[in-house]
Amino acid sequence: MAHPEGALNNMSKRTVLTGITTTGTPHLGNYVGAIKPAIAASRGDNVRSCYFLADYHALIKCRDPEVVNRSTLEIAATWLALGLDTDKAIFYRQSDIPEISELTWLLTCITAKGLMNRAHAYKAAVQENVEKGEDQDFAIAMGLFSYPILMAADILMFNAHEVPVGRDQIQHIEMSRDIAQRFNHHFGKHFVLPEAVVDDNVALLPGQDGRKMSKSYNNTIPLWLPEKQLRKSIMRIVTNSLEPGDPKQTGDSALFAIYSAFASTGQRQEMKQAFADGIAWGAAKQQCFELINSELADARLVYEELISDPAKIETRLQEGAERAREIAVPFMRQLRSAVGIRSLV
Ligand code: TRP
Repeated sequence: MAHPEGALNNMSKRTVLTGITTTGTPHLGNYVGAIKPAIAASRGDNVRSCYFLADYHALIKCRDPEVVNRSTLEIAATWLALGLDTDKAIFYRQSDIPEISELTWLLTCITAKGLMNRAHAYKAAVQENVEKGEDQDFAIAMGLFSYPILMAADILMFNAHEVPVGRDQIQHIEMSRDIAQRFNHHFGKHFVLPEAVVDDNVALLPGQDGRKMSKSYNNTIPLWLPEKQLRKSIMRIVTNSLEPGDPKQTGDSALFAIYSAFASTGQRQEMKQAFADGIAWGAAKQQCFELINSELADARLVYEELISDPAKIETRLQEGAERAREIAVPFMRQLRSAVGIRSLV
């Protein structure tokens, strides 16, 4: 019957899977918190990595087709420019794997509505309506409500063991586990139970204003700004009014946190000392710019080349989709059969 550790997870390979929703322009927070560690993880010998563009998830937040399409291009180009080895990692666009949508329905049919009622994102939307005196369902689409089920399908389709995510996504991975367990209980052990992997060091990159770097706070530093604009954007990181020569604290400094995310241990130590010695904010920002720019400069050239050649990216995505479907098509056949949807003869 079922074989979650069978053909799919042969040998001792662990599957690491993560996706990025295609609703915006990639920023330093996406890079440091998600893409860079994921690319590093994909180089390990005993991992099979599945990285994808979550474009069906984008529809939940975004009704602008051009934004979804452009963001898909930019995020795909970003992974490739930063050196994702697509011979090793399976790199694909969610919507190219129709089996994910099919699995979403099988999972929807066994997911408790009560479980979805508890999702933070949905609860926050209801709460906001209540506070504004609106009907509690006002402007809440079923897509938002069922979002964790689509995410579970993304994960369970490839029997991922590990799902690297930001803190805000942990609950969704726990829900995927619940859903997998329930399916396994009814229909046989088909799914691996996934675990969230959260890296405390990288998950919290602050933005220019010191709050978490996020598009919703409008405090992001886009990853692929041309050099001059990158410098300007870093110069805009909020600091306090301490003068050159005044000793400065690192603990509450967004600038230090952003610098640190790119620095070696030695560089971080030196900057800490420079803060204590009263480095001028302008000088510290200049160093921060130089450090980030030196890390991104070569990849930026590749990015610019790729972004002007969407056909090349499309081909890479089609190749990825083909590999992903080598897994998804037979697994979906197995799952359909398990629930009783199979040939009559
Ligand atoms: N919901 C995730 C986010 O907004 C993106 C995502 C979609 C995802 N499907 C996934 C992440 C599967 C990990 C695994 O960040």
